[in-house]
Amino acid sequence: MASDGAAEPKHAKDGFSSRKVFIFAAIGSAVGLGNIWRFPYVAYEGGAGAFLIPYLVALLFAGIPLLYFLYSIGHRNRGSAPLSLRRFSKGAEWIGWWMVLVAVVIGVYYAAIIAWAIKYTFLSFNQGWGNDPGTYLNVDFLQVAKDPGPTMDFVPQVLLLMVVVWAVTIGVLAMGIQNGIGRTAVIFIPILVVAFGLLVIYSLTLDGAGAGLDAFFTPDWGALKDSSVWISAVGQIFFSLSIGFGIMITYASYVQPKTDMTGSGAVVAFSNSGFELLCGIGVFATLGFIAQSTGQQIGEVVASGIGLAFVAFPTIINEAPGGAFIGVLFFASLVLAGLTSLISIIEVIIGAVRDKVGISRLAATFIVGLPMAIVSILMFSTTGGLYLLDTMDAFVNSFGIVGASIVVMLALSWVFRKLPVMQQHMNTHGTIKLLLWWKALVAVIIPVALAYMLYQELRDKIAEPYAGYPDSLINVFGWGMAAALPIIAILLSFLPWRGDTKLDDPGDLYAREDALVDGGEQA
Ligand code: ALA
Repeated sequence: MASDGAAEPKHAKDGFSSRKVFIFAAIGSAVGLGNIWRFPYVAYEGGAGAFLIPYLVALLFAGIPLLYFLYSIGHRNRGSAPLSLRRFSKGAEWIGWWMVLVAVVIGVYYAAIIAWAIKYTFLSFNQGWGNDPGTYLNVDFLQVAKDPGPTMDFVPQVLLLMVVVWAVTIGVLAMGIQNGIGRTAVIFIPILVVAFGLLVIYSLTLDGAGAGLDAFFTPDWGALKDSSVWISAVGQIFFSLSIGFGIMITYASYVQPKTDMTGSGAVVAFSNSGFELLCGIGVFATLGFIAQSTGQQIGEVVASGIGLAFVAFPTIINEAPGGAFIGVLFFASLVLAGLTSLISIIEVIIGAVRDKVGISRLAATFIVGLPMAIVSILMFSTTGGLYLLDTMDAFVNSFGIVGASIVVMLALSWVFRKLPVMQQHMNTHGTIKLLLWWKALVAVIIPVALAYMLYQELRDKIAEPYAGYPDSLINVFGWGMAAALPIIAILLSFLPWRGDTKLDDPGDLYAREDALVDGGEQA
């Protein structure tokens, strides 16, 4: 990192040009497949209306405080996740690598879902999935193998679409932080909001929409006693807000010093959840229509994540007046939202490699992007891809995202004792002041609550093989992957830093940077 080490004002030549661009990029990262593809069915399974309470509690008392915690790491220490943590302490670096590795796992499967959504955008025009979308998805399109497990049988169509997704992602990332990531978000997010807004308005006019919304908003208070509902609410908030896998540390390091970080974080978090609720409304109104027209209960038409987007929606499109319109809007939204999130996920890895190896951004983009594209395509364009995706998604969310979040909060609070400087940093860079409540949340309440949830999750997953899959699949791509990530992370933290990256706590560097970039965008 010859030219942009800690002693340089990184943002001065390489970073988001303004607070607005940062907010767009952070919303672009947050709003993704998690909102459109995951939230509606997770909400439904969590008791529909009753889910909104754990969801809001998780947002206000875990998501936003943790978001500020991560912002303070990246914004103060101005580096990728491993570098920012290294600048706090050598012993903290591995946690940053753990987050980077979680991003690797999510990135490789995330690209596959975007690839499918591209195909379905085109299929929407003439309902190319025919009368039986379930069979089309599994048999004709993905050609899913009979036995769950990895295969080496490639599905050329999926392979080609994945090449497109990776080419676009690498292309955007190669253009840089402001011109690539920032500009893409500033263009894609408004289009996404308009497209999805139209979809929601249209969905509300369908017969049966009211019944769908009733299902979504009618509380099932009994569900609040179920700890798994709380776990899924926290898991959803973390995945959706892009916290726990390095993105927010990385993006915050690209923000100009004189930026209102807490105010910006609130805008990002509420925009993301607002969009998420809109997705719930649009999807449930539409499900209400299909339930009414087929004489089923809403519960019978809500499928799992993949099923909801790629089976239930096509079924609706076949039935609804103006189905092609709904289909194009829905799947194009999935593509746009997915791409801006995938870009942020891969940037976590690029930033880390660039800092550690001391190479240019362009070189790091290709050194990271090409191997990831190859691994992603080798794994997920095969007939076994769906099983791998399902297993890795289920394990990495809890044992990766939630696990790394617990460890980073406990380590910085209790082992490295950095909470006071982090608090002070955010309070001098934010309109919302972080008081004792914030410290209590991030140092004690959130980690303890999450650890309890994770323990429950561990117990459940041990008791019953996930989705009834064979041990060989779960042991390698579930447990094996989850356990390997922190171990590999520790090993990576022992590799030397190349280039002239400054590893010390920046301390008063920040004040100097403020002076250097006087006139940068104000809060
Ligand atoms: N935050 C991204 C999503 O919701 C990863 O999909």
